[in-house]
Amino acid sequence: MSNTTELFRYIEAAPTPWHAVAETARRLDEAGFARLEEADSWGLEPGKKYYTTRAGSSLIAWRMPKVPGAGWRMSAAHSDSPAFRVKGAVDRAGCTMLDLEGYGGMIRAAWLDRPLGIAGRLMVKTAGGIREQLVDLGGEQAVIPHLAIHMDRTANSGHNYDMKKDMPALYAPAAKADLQQALADAAGCKKEEILAQDLLLYCSDKGTQTPNGLILVPRLDDLGCAFAGLAGLLNAPESEQGAVFCLFDNEEVGSGTRQGALSSLLPDVLARAAEALGENAEDSRRALAKSLLLSADNGHAIHPNFAEMSDAANPVRLGGGVVLKWNASQKYTTSGETAALFRSVCEKAGVPVQDYYNRPDLPGGSTLGNLLSAQVSVRMADIGLPQLAMHSCVETAAAQDVDALVNAVCAWYAARIEKTSQGWAL
Ligand code: CO
Repeated sequence: MSNTTELFRYIEAAPTPWHAVAETARRLDEAGFARLEEADSWGLEPGKKYYTTRAGSSLIAWRMPKVPGAGWRMSAAHSDSPAFRVKGAVDRAGCTMLDLEGYGGMIRAAWLDRPLGIAGRLMVKTAGGIREQLVDLGGEQAVIPHLAIHMDRTANSGHNYDMKKDMPALYAPAAKADLQQALADAAGCKKEEILAQDLLLYCSDKGTQTPNGLILVPRLDDLGCAFAGLAGLLNAPESEQGAVFCLFDNEEVGSGTRQGALSSLLPDVLARAAEALGENAEDSRRALAKSLLLSADNGHAIHPNFAEMSDAANPVRLGGGVVLKWNASQKYTTSGETAALFRSVCEKAGVPVQDYYNRPDLPGGSTLGNLLSAQVSVRMADIGLPQLAMHSCVETAAAQDVDALVNAVCAWYAARIEKTSQGWAL
């Protein structure tokens, strides 16, 4: 099966961050990784494979180093995408509407006039307490209809899509359609047993590939990189060093949550691993000094209709290979040193690399690496899949870049890269 087909399957199984973590966990279970709960005693052993989750929407999977002080080869991606939180159903003008709250910076117009799904997490009352249950009502549940052009002659002259006025979604053509009952039916419980819920609207388009190699798929940012990072860990060969794959929630809202990249999740896992290996404080700091991390989040390809928006000196082409991101203000963690390492690994693997810079007068977005390096200070580089229409409902990229990204990340985990007194041996 092609990387693209596999990627589409992964994304389809991940309509929300909770589902992304559940699907990732399912694949790790299949690959023999042992699931650990943060509240339990872990009993980690050298060379063995584990994963843990936090808040149901972030996950860290790793293979333990074989020897103390060997360090870690790592990558990180994010599980969340811009979406709409469903606050509840209300009757309005004889219809049932879903009241929404925006999550992250989405291109709002893209969410109109298309079938939207409802999925998320329910907290369900049981005889013994409360259980958590994922739910997916399916992809054709609601729509956010435009006002007809006959009632808005300015529709094609630029429209400000207001969260309160434009974005509430139509759930049913009659009042009192029962969203809570639909959730209860899907969860196999009684309506009154649903104590609380985290629900998102999601774009249910299936991933597609054009005959000429474009791919169109929802949530490509950042499930494309999550897919590649997971592939890298699953294919990582035996080594003295450990291997880590991080999947963080809440990147789209600044990462400052208990489960985000700014949290203690990665430091906590590394500290517990260091203790299990019998490393003392100096050993574990020496291990971090030998460790490397790829912060993997999609980047912008040059848009042919808006080429002037990209940095003229460094055009990133769709189909031109994996993106290595640079920023003088250090929003990206790439340095000359880590770029040289990543480029060397990619060159050996036959993967083309493209340098990305923001246009000098544009600030660009933020990502995981620079926030994560405040928690775990290891050498990092920022990379990603070049794409168009970032944060739209359906995003566009090139199939050959998916191959490039997967090959680059797998080569990153597989490569021998050793710190020496002169520099690096590889
Ligand atoms: Co992203």
